[in-house]
Amino acid sequence: MSSAPRTLAGARILVGVGGGIAAYKTAHLVRGLVGEGADVRVVPTVSSLEFVGAATWEALSHHPVLTSVFEDVEEVAHVRFGQQADLVVIAPATADLLARLRMGRADDLLTASALVTRAPVVVAPAMHTEMWEHPSTLENVAVLRERGVTVLEPAVGRLTGPDSGPGRLPEPSAILDAARAAIAAPRDERGAVRRDLVGRELLITAGGTREELDPVRFLANHSSGRQGWALAHAALARGARVRLAAANVDLETPPGARRLDVGSAAELAELVAAHRREVDALIMAAAVADFTAAERATAKIKKDEIAGDGSDAVPAIALRRTQDILRHSVLDRAAHHAETGEAGPAIVGFAAETGGEDASALELGRAKARRKGADLLVFNDITSGVFGAADNAVRILDHDGEEIARAEGTKTLVAHAVLDALLPSLPEVS
Ligand code: CTP
Repeated sequence: MSSAPRTLAGARILVGVGGGIAAYKTAHLVRGLVGEGADVRVVPTVSSLEFVGAATWEALSHHPVLTSVFEDVEEVAHVRFGQQADLVVIAPATADLLARLRMGRADDLLTASALVTRAPVVVAPAMHTEMWEHPSTLENVAVLRERGVTVLEPAVGRLTGPDSGPGRLPEPSAILDAARAAIAAPRDERGAVRRDLVGRELLITAGGTREELDPVRFLANHSSGRQGWALAHAALARGARVRLAAANVDLETPPGARRLDVGSAAELAELVAAHRREVDALIMAAAVADFTAAERATAKIKKDEIAGDGSDAVPAIALRRTQDILRHSVLDRAAHHAETGEAGPAIVGFAAETGGEDASALELGRAKARRKGADLLVFNDITSGVFGAADNAVRILDHDGEEIARAEGTKTLVAHAVLDALLPSLPEVS
């Protein structure tokens, strides 16, 4: 299994399609997977072909489509597809399909393949709210999750017909991110995603804060939120509950994450303070502004009012420091521990550094690790730039600045490496 691909590029992916109206969204998912360089085989259930026909799947995947175990018998398709897959993604999964997967049925090509595979399985359910909330479905989902299947939480919103509630298929981009997290995750002995964060809750901050100068202008940074998102997807795949503090992030919420939107550094500081004692770990992946306007103008700053004499004068904008949330959290944990004996959350910081004349990027990273005092500091040398880029190369330092792990590759691979390094720092389960 160790040679199995850990990214979607070059992976063999079996996409199962259940019989639901949301099957049309899976066409975008297949396109996305093929676009990432995956070799995709689509296996629709017979009933799903009422919604999206085989021709669509053949055109998008560039492979013929089979649905029955009695097709392509000499090639033993029902065994081969499942055996060869590096990842199985089932979207949409109906209540009936979840029940069949849970029971280990093998009455069509899709369920037979799911029974054969030793690869991670991601399931994206879509159904009416009543079906999703039925004890049978809840139990099926719980059992599948226990076995290491990533069953995504359905999105909440308008369903087919006039009803609305939980039951919508997550957006294709969110399923794609979940697929990325599953294929990169550590595995158990059966090849399923290792659920080493079950019972844990993580607070992950993501994105970049905005500091308003006046009602139309703000100071911001280039952070896309993708590293925080990758951490959230990776943690969810491994069984954690996730609170995701999102500072100005324009990405689909990871299914199952509790998203908490914030704008400024002060709002983020307040949110982290309100939540950090309730979680097992705080991961500060957000790019937090170090400075904010000393005073936010209530009306738009007008150039003619500053330069009333018609000159080219520019405003002098006074700034003040924001709270260092990471450092503050470390100090708060120590104070709370002294008072109550509670261990408090494990704390992880990020540091993107460019080397200067006096010190290399790594030396600055080590010094920052010691200064911040977090359990882990994920150091990234950005001398050649990274913001918004897909790939990353990091060193994970402890609070003394000693390197304990390295990771290179996609943000998802980095995310799993950070979670691996975090495990020994988590507080004991009470
Ligand atoms: N951070 C924070 N609060 C701030 C600034 C940063 O919690 N006001 C956190 C970031 O989320 C990150 C870590 O601190 O996890 C390091 O961020 P960075 O901007 O590199 O550190 P700074 O303290 O701003 O250090 P410097 O200005 O020296 O680069």
